[in-house]
Amino acid sequence: MIPTQTLLAIETSCDETGISVLRQEEQQITVLAQAVASQVDIHKATGGVVPEVAAREHVTVFRPLLEKVMSEAGVKGLDLDAIAVTIGPGLQPALAVGVNAVRTLAYAWQKPLVPVQHLEGHVYSALLAGNHEGIPQTVRIPEKSDIFPALALIVSGGHTLLVKIADHLDYEILGTTQDDAVGEAFDKVARLLGLPYPGGPELSRLAEQGDPGRYTFPRPMLKSGDLQFSFSGLKTAVLYTIRDLEKKDSLALAKERAHLAASFERAAVETLVGKFAAAIKQVRPKVCLLAGGVAANTRLREALQKVTSEQLVPLKIAPLALCGDNAVMIGYAGLFAYAAGRTTTWPAIDALARFDLLPRVES
Ligand code: KG4
Ligand code: ZN
Repeated sequence: MIPTQTLLAIETSCDETGISVLRQEEQQITVLAQAVASQVDIHKATGGVVPEVAAREHVTVFRPLLEKVMSEAGVKGLDLDAIAVTIGPGLQPALAVGVNAVRTLAYAWQKPLVPVQHLEGHVYSALLAGNHEGIPQTVRIPEKSDIFPALALIVSGGHTLLVKIADHLDYEILGTTQDDAVGEAFDKVARLLGLPYPGGPELSRLAEQGDPGRYTFPRPMLKSGDLQFSFSGLKTAVLYTIRDLEKKDSLALAKERAHLAASFERAAVETLVGKFAAAIKQVRPKVCLLAGGVAANTRLREALQKVTSEQLVPLKIAPLALCGDNAVMIGYAGLFAYAAGRTTTWPAIDALARFDLLPRVES
């Protein structure tokens, strides 16, 4: 029997400060308290995230947010078993805030640290909490034989990944983007269409009023025969179309904006879904997972629902509240990492802005 574990988890890889306290009792994980402080309004002014600005904001909100979450959880530092933290990938100055904060906490409370890769957090947000409304207070850990191998599509502002998960913490990246991440493409096209930051959700809203068949944009690498992605060509195709419209007359672009958004969105979604369908045939997963910021996209959710039900594989989509960055997902992954012995100490932990492979723990 697994003893009760109480874990504090911290996420500061980009522009949200996430803090959570989770408790595992046997096969059950409970969120005792959690909070996310978003910096979206601050980054609107610059139309994107300036890493040093993000880092300063993490520093400002960290202590009050930690006090709030710990007090809501009814947990004192000394009650914790371990502290999990996102060590990468992400913006180096932002990651460093979280890592330095947990260094101090681990030293003061004499607790082990659990390094978590941001993307495995996204994987666990769907694996454990998939298809729940909102953040579930309690989740049951599924039987391994019901979920592995799992196939995950992680789509965010920084990443586009197809991942095979053979067992807890055992990941194999099957495909990734050669250039822009899909969320980045949404954000860049949104900016071309004059939409405010963060562009993805704005573009998606505008697309609802447009005809997705009006423009035929490329489905990059859809026929490449592998599971790799590329989105910069699609973004450039939209750019050239916008330039042509601007040359016509000043009103042409205004009239076409919603159609451009809808046509771009369809091309991006069809590319993701085409590769996902090929990956299902290759992996033959017990369950499919969709997570990351772009998993909030309605058209993508619907299209993946369709393709997985055609192939008779269940699909778990991260709840909307856990699609964006948060510390609940870092806590979920952290509990498995802790149980597998992935711990380190305050002098040894380090933030890694880039690393390509998810950590693999031999147990
Ligand atoms: O996971 P996330 O919060 O941060 C990263 O780790 O990158 O993802 C943010 C990304 C942004 O690019 C944002 O525009 C995109 O997710 N996004 C969306 C939607 N909601 C958020 N993209 C398309 N449609 C949406 N509804
Ligand atoms: Zn993320």
